[in-house]
Amino acid sequence: MIRRLWQAGMIRMARSPSVKRIMQQGSAGSALAARYVAGATAETAVSRAAALHAQDGICGSLFYLGEYVDRPDLVAENFAAKLLAAEQLGRTDLDVHVSVDPTQIGYSLDPQLARRNAFAIAERVAASAGSRPGIHALMLDMEDETVVEPTIALHAALVEAKLPAALTLQAYLRRTEADLAAEIARGARVRLVKGAFAAGNDAAFTRQAEIKVNSRRLIALMFSRSARAAGFYPIIATHDDRLQAYAIEQAEANGWRPGDYEFEMLLGVRGDVARALARRGHRVRLYLPFGRDWWPYAIRRIGENPRNAVLLARSLLDRAA
Ligand code: FDA
Repeated sequence: MIRRLWQAGMIRMARSPSVKRIMQQGSAGSALAARYVAGATAETAVSRAAALHAQDGICGSLFYLGEYVDRPDLVAENFAAKLLAAEQLGRTDLDVHVSVDPTQIGYSLDPQLARRNAFAIAERVAASAGSRPGIHALMLDMEDETVVEPTIALHAALVEAKLPAALTLQAYLRRTEADLAAEIARGARVRLVKGAFAAGNDAAFTRQAEIKVNSRRLIALMFSRSARAAGFYPIIATHDDRLQAYAIEQAEANGWRPGDYEFEMLLGVRGDVARALARRGHRVRLYLPFGRDWWPYAIRRIGENPRNAVLLARSLLDRAA
């Protein structure tokens, strides 16, 4: 109950243009932004990725902030930022790994535009990475139920064209078991998340307990012997340490080695858990959002745990000081 009220309050803050304006005014360096966001520009995000890699052996996936855009100028801005991120990662020895929401690159305006942009970004990822080893990818994030089918089709087209692409699937959707089976059979790279959206009971599991049970079922499929034989690459994206432990258990039981799969988490959330996994020899990647429009993203992260109230209060006091 407290958690739900807290989350609803934070979502209201995320949607308020006036709060956003006040918080973002010249303050990309505030405590909140510094915790959840890797910087205002691709350059700063790449530096943060390099530092994480050097300090903790943790990899990154760069994400330019800005979702559900329906203005051509914003689509163009997002597209340019993704290309730049891939290009700049290519100048380092880090993975060339960028996360993209289909609506960011034009899906709501014109699905063909989003497709052209996705192909161009994946081509830039491939060219920037060259032949050096690493996990290089255009990772397609998964948005609400209405874009699931086209996102899966887009990923299939990219893979068909032999471009470095990966796909996010959500455990809250009932259809995911079948979608995952198809991706396993084609030896794809899939990031499994619980899902940050809601849908009706016919399409989705609506209770957290059910979503956790389904997550386990899907993890078992991802780490099956047949998935390994098919060359499938599991990516477990959660801060839930019990699910992470379950994935490790399944991996060990079925002969997977740590480099054959990865864990992914968000920058600023349970960093201790991420570092502990990396120290144990697992491949860990952090989702590294960057850009000027950081407030809606950061406040949603705050909303995910009422204990973050202290962090929020501290950052508001910093602003007032
Ligand atoms: P859960 O919410 O159950 O939390 C597990 C533990 O972590 C709890 O102890 C909790 O308190 C703690 N915790 C979680 N968030 C916290 C926070 N902000 N601060 C402090 N503690 C926190 N969704 C989607 O629909 N499409 C997508 O493309 C993606 N992409 C994506 C990429 C990556 C790398 C991650 C990690 C997540 C996503 N998600 C996503 C979001 C995902 O669907 C889900 O909403 C969140 O990860 C929260 O679920 P968890 O499984 O992490 O655990």
